[in-house]
Amino acid sequence: MSERVAIVTGSASGLGLATASRLHDSGYNVVIADYSAERTEEAVSSFGSDARVAGFHTDVANTRSVEALLAFTRERFGRLDVLVNNAGFAEPMPTHLIEDASWSRMLDVHLGGTMRCSRAAYPLLIESDAPSIINLASIAAYIGIPGRAAYSAAKAGIEGLTRALAVEWAQFGIRVNAVAPGFISTPLMADLVKDGLRSEAAMAGSVPLARLGLPEEVASVVEFLAGPASSYVTGQTIVIDGGLTIDGRERSANPATAAVIRSGDTA
Ligand SMILES: NC(=O)c1ccc[n+]([C@@H]2O[C@H](COP(=O)([O-])OP(=O)(O)OC[C@H]3O[C@@H](n4cnc5c(N)ncnc54)[C@H](O)[C@@H]3O)[C@@H](O)[C@H]2O)c1
Repeated sequence: MSERVAIVTGSASGLGLATASRLHDSGYNVVIADYSAERTEEAVSSFGSDARVAGFHTDVANTRSVEALLAFTRERFGRLDVLVNNAGFAEPMPTHLIEDASWSRMLDVHLGGTMRCSRAAYPLLIESDAPSIINLASIAAYIGIPGRAAYSAAKAGIEGLTRALAVEWAQFGIRVNAVAPGFISTPLMADLVKDGLRSEAAMAGSVPLARLGLPEEVASVVEFLAGPASSYVTGQTIVIDGGLTIDGRERSANPATAAVIRSGDTA
């Protein structure tokens, strides 16, 4: 495992940084590829002067930039085994006010970026003995959240792309999976709370496990999908949401029954 190389896009922050860190701890050489040059440098510095970590300023919405990232990775580490398509952003907006440019940027970074990075990584991935791509989807692909039309559409598209690529590239041994996080405590989420677009208490209250998730709890699932423990898993999306999307409590509960179940009193 010590030779394996991973690129994590959008890894100067949040889930990407936690994933880069987790993969690094497991012995991977890691390329931190992020839109923010300043935060990329900071993220790389947070690993000390470890030669197994490299940073590259990248815009996943730009084909040339993505091709430069892959050329850099080949030159620096000579191979690629794992690609984590994580770069993204949130920009809640009532649908009747969305401008074409905002819609296009959302689709182009999340869905286009996932395709663009996968396409550019393909020549290196087919040379790996155990290549794996992991895409960041979201529960926003399953549940309707007001103001998230473009985001939800992009994330639903990522799931379709994941399944299509999994089948198309199975012949090369490339596994392609996705994770769909729920409410995870990251700078992206903190911004939504700060702007009054989300309430942390309301989010935690709506989750059966009664709390937000931690970036490390997503990173550990990505690591599972990256490595040999998931060698027969492809085309799947693993939901990491504390039970939010399978919760039937509000729809089925009789308050009296709920009280009995909570107290454990079956008499
Ligand atoms: N936080 C959550 O609760 C949550 C839930 C579901 C899905 N997600 C998804 O997880 C991913 C990471 O989210 P996060 O919460 O860690 O966000 P974050 O804002 O903390 O980190 C996202 C990173 O992506 C980078 N980025 C943005 N646009 C880019 C571009 N064009 N090219 C390269 N890098 C770019 C940003 O600079 C930033 O460092 C996103 O795809 C997001 O949609 C997050």
